[in-house]
Amino acid sequence: MDPDRLRRRFLGYLLASPFLPLLGACRDRSGAPPAPQATRSADAMEQALIASPQEALDLFDLATVGQHNIAPAHWGSLMSGSDDDRTMRLNSESFERLQIRARRLIDTSKVDTSIELLGLKLSSPIVLSPLSGQQAYHPDGEVGTAAAARKRGHLLTLSSLTSKPIAAVADAIGDRSHLWFQCYPTDQLSVALDVIKRAEDAGTSVLVFTADVPARGNRVSLIRSARKDPRPCESCHGDNPAQQGPRNAQAFLRKFPMYSTVDLGQVKTFFRPTTLDFVAKVRSATKMKIAIKGIVTAEDARLCVDNGIDLVWVSNHGGRQENSGMSTIESLPEVVAAVAGKVPIIVDGGVRRGTDVFKALALGATAVGIGRPLAWGLGAFGSAGVERALELLQLELTKTMQIVGTPSIAAITSAHVRWRS
Ligand SMILES: Cc1cc2nc3c(=O)[nH]c(=O)nc-3n(C[C@H](O)[C@H](O)[C@H](O)COP(=O)(O)O)c2cc1C
Repeated sequence: MDPDRLRRRFLGYLLASPFLPLLGACRDRSGAPPAPQATRSADAMEQALIASPQEALDLFDLATVGQHNIAPAHWGSLMSGSDDDRTMRLNSESFERLQIRARRLIDTSKVDTSIELLGLKLSSPIVLSPLSGQQAYHPDGEVGTAAAARKRGHLLTLSSLTSKPIAAVADAIGDRSHLWFQCYPTDQLSVALDVIKRAEDAGTSVLVFTADVPARGNRVSLIRSARKDPRPCESCHGDNPAQQGPRNAQAFLRKFPMYSTVDLGQVKTFFRPTTLDFVAKVRSATKMKIAIKGIVTAEDARLCVDNGIDLVWVSNHGGRQENSGMSTIESLPEVVAAVAGKVPIIVDGGVRRGTDVFKALALGATAVGIGRPLAWGLGAFGSAGVERALELLQLELTKTMQIVGTPSIAAITSAHVRWRS
């Protein structure tokens, strides 16, 4: 469509949209419910609209178009935290409390952003976090995301709530070593083992358990936004698993290809606490390395290391679980100290800039994950949008490293950041 027409149409949509304030907040990094003053002039809105991925100057340009394209309930679900969304906002805002101490007098004419993660050589420390049901953002869903990851050489962790079959995602990413698998096991070990075997057969090499969902977070803004969407959620989603009960859990899971042909007859609930006992039972049934995602304290990090977990993933599910008042970047230092270099650490939550990636690396993360931004790119321009999101973040990281005197990831240390007092 002619870009001017698209702009005008989009502007009209925005001005009429109940999500206008959400957009304003989103461009303020948070995505949380609006501060009263968070409206933007029509001119600024118009400038924010882009018609191709290459026009995006930062991730927020992709978010603007993504919001336009994504159905209101799905956008609301994507941008929801829990309770009043405070922890989700804090994830992002905390990066602003962390300042970069730039060093000069160093030759950074060449910058190397490569890392090694569990024996895998990656050209970038930026990884794609597991995000369920990506077809809600674009028909290509996880296949589009995987194709983008392949083009730009990033690692992708696929959620077991993938809306596309794992075989298609694996084909799209090509090199299977770049595909990890995150498993929601349900309360039935047999279901977990079946799903894990399918992932292993598809060639995934690392199994991620997400420990922060023993119950579903109180997603208030999700429910508010769904109310503004006239379509009944159950028509696409099966029943709501948050309303506990076997029928709900089974109907919900059957909609997802990883579970659609698994015997779900005994499943009573989708949610289950991830205990180390449970992980031990699974461990003997798989050759995959095991990561635990959702760790935010030194105590749990230590337990992971002591129990042979291969990687600790600092995450609070993008602020969608407990409204803790603590961001993941604030949790990272205690986890890093507890792990003491014994296993690698990924951190995600609120990463929106290359400088955020830099700060997380400076505090001791081995790699840094993004969640919502990949959906912004996907919703905006499909696979090409995800590619652009990755390109922009990588570009920002590279520039930062060049400017602040760190020619390699190993050169980035805690001396490069300080907390604003
Ligand atoms: C819409 C949505 C779906 C998600 N689905 C999953 C999932 O299936 N498995 C999982 O471990 N984490 C899931 N997460 C959490 C992400 O993996 C990641 O921890 C979080 O999004 C990072 O924060 P960010 O979105 O601010 O980058 C989801 C998050 C969102 C927003």
